[in-house]
Amino acid sequence: MITDIINKKRLGKELSYHELDVFFNGYLDGKVKDYQMSSLLMAICINGMNEEEVFSLTKIFIDSGDVLDLSFISGIVVDKHSTGGIGDKTTLIIAPIVASLGIPILKMSGRGLGYTGGTIDKLESIPGYRVNLSDEEVIKQVQDIGIVVTGQTASLAPMDKEIYALRDVTATVSSIPLIAVSIMSKKIAGGADKILIDIKVGNGALLHTKKEAEELSLLLKKIGKIYQKEVHTMISDMNVPLGFCIGNSLEVMEAVRVLKGEEIGNNLTKLCIDLSTELVCMAKNVSVQDAQDMVMQAINSGAAYQKFLELIKAQSGDLKGMPLSKKYKEIKAEQSGIIQNISAIKLGELSVLLGAGRLSKEDSIDYGVGIELKKQVGDQVKKGDVLAKIYYKTLPHLHNFKDIFIIR
Ligand code: URA
Repeated sequence: MITDIINKKRLGKELSYHELDVFFNGYLDGKVKDYQMSSLLMAICINGMNEEEVFSLTKIFIDSGDVLDLSFISGIVVDKHSTGGIGDKTTLIIAPIVASLGIPILKMSGRGLGYTGGTIDKLESIPGYRVNLSDEEVIKQVQDIGIVVTGQTASLAPMDKEIYALRDVTATVSSIPLIAVSIMSKKIAGGADKILIDIKVGNGALLHTKKEAEELSLLLKKIGKIYQKEVHTMISDMNVPLGFCIGNSLEVMEAVRVLKGEEIGNNLTKLCIDLSTELVCMAKNVSVQDAQDMVMQAINSGAAYQKFLELIKAQSGDLKGMPLSKKYKEIKAEQSGIIQNISAIKLGELSVLLGAGRLSKEDSIDYGVGIELKKQVGDQVKKGDVLAKIYYKTLPHLHNFKDIFIIR
């Protein structure tokens, strides 16, 4: 029976709800083995799934755990999700902005695996910050201060946790149906009314073409409709990293600078303003211009930064004493010219080598290492100018990273 199901998908045929249920719940129960699930996931990756199969599998994932009931919270509760990128600290910035405007936000985030960082790892670089709140604590905090950023509680879509870990080590992450199921099962279980998904495209992202991103966008919206959730998507570039910093504590410090209005006009600040504006439009039903004015006011008045401080305090964090390695090396331009590109994927690879990310689930993270870019794409540089500072504990060989910066 189990091998019949794998074989059916290998031949590109549709699996019924019953077959998917037997297989996936069998995996959670230990009856289906890792190698059998890996085989089915690869067959799905290669042959895809039709919409019916995606809808069935999303339901199976949601039903593997609890669905939070947030109906006691007055106002529209929003949630955002990113398909993952390098230097992506947008949640740390957007969540306080929208919460400071009176829009409750409950964000359950993940850890990083591979080259893309995770919000929870970044928050854990703040001494004392608790990422493992219980359902009761989550509910109390969102009622008290309108913002929570925590790790996903064990009871929400536990199937996704198991399957995602297996996908990650079997090269089956980049499947549009599987990404849609994974994201939407967590978002629906999380209980928010409206959901914004930032779909990243580029060499540092799961998806490499706009066409793939549009396909995913459509699928996410169709799943949302079934559960009466309004899903909005934004497609954004991940060929260059977001902002200037890659590495956990460096990224938290950068988020603080954006919240204080000290980083103006770079790709990170712009994306955060766009995503926050969209969330405000979704929650308050106002025009784009009004929403953007509110977002800018939240930053310029200091309200967003104050809300960030409230969040850190509520979850027992202390921004004093954030780790940053004392050892650093400067990377200098070997020629004069204009920076044409800064490779997101190569920076992601370097950050993992430094110890800022993990390649397997068991790896531990060094919160105080990372890369701080000193220049952006389009900047004019002279030979010898500092392009980046690498904070390290043990310096890896850098010969593979000569072409991070393309200067012409
Ligand atoms: N983000 C998720 O939560 N799941 C995926 O499968 C990919 C990105």
